[in-house]
Amino acid sequence: MSAAETMTVPQFQRLKGRRRLTMLTAYDFPTARLLDQAGVDALLVGDSLGMVVQGRSDTLAVSWQEMLYHAEMVGRAVRHALVVVDLPFPLAHLEPPEVLRHAAQALQLPGVSAVKLEGGAELVGTIRRLVQAGVPVMGHCGLRPQSVHRLGGYRVQRDAQLVLRDAQALEEAGAFAVVLECISRSIAAEVTRSLSIPTIGIGAGPECDGQVLVLHDLLGLGSAPPPKFARAYANLAKVILEAVQQYCRDVQQGHYPGPEHCYE
Ligand code: KIV
Repeated sequence: MSAAETMTVPQFQRLKGRRRLTMLTAYDFPTARLLDQAGVDALLVGDSLGMVVQGRSDTLAVSWQEMLYHAEMVGRAVRHALVVVDLPFPLAHLEPPEVLRHAAQALQLPGVSAVKLEGGAELVGTIRRLVQAGVPVMGHCGLRPQSVHRLGGYRVQRDAQLVLRDAQALEEAGAFAVVLECISRSIAAEVTRSLSIPTIGIGAGPECDGQVLVLHDLLGLGSAPPPKFARAYANLAKVILEAVQQYCRDVQQGHYPGPEHCYE
């Protein structure tokens, strides 16, 4: 994608097999602007914000109003990346007209192009309805954090038949891409080979068509140890801690503000 171009849903879909796709979560204007400048293909306003921004232990209590609040900031910042907004629990499982009403609110925000729904074959009817209405849908199967209580925790999902059946159902229903979370490398490779839409892996190995990470894991900003599949490319927690400690010392010792910070 050249700097002048904006990533569209059809372009994103066509990149399968041509080059690997990059996606990261984003929740606010300044960070989304930087990720966009860095050339990330897609930004996900993920309901993971419940954990990494709001400090909750799971994503279940994130509200739709909160998602829209963050999505608006991200959409406003972005010039090139595709912006995808998560439907939080339990919106994807409401009646299709209700899901469509919520998805439409996301697409009506400037800069937002698609929604993501967590779920498998049970969402086929809903996804068909959204796609018929013009709403691009990204699927999400394998580990579904919104089902954490049914699954009994954030565990690797090992039922190959179930993941394959879900991913194929999502494609047949009209999803333009599917996130595969926390499944074995071999299952992800098989699903990726069997679909004609891109698979975006998180804890699903390198054979996926693209990768997504929660930004706080990549930047070393999380409050909990990062999951096994994440790689921290920076330790921003350390940078922030040291900067703020230095500020406190400077104020206490009279080194800040200096003459250059004063008005005459
Ligand atoms: O909410 C989120 O950040 C997600 C990613 C983990 C894919 O769904």
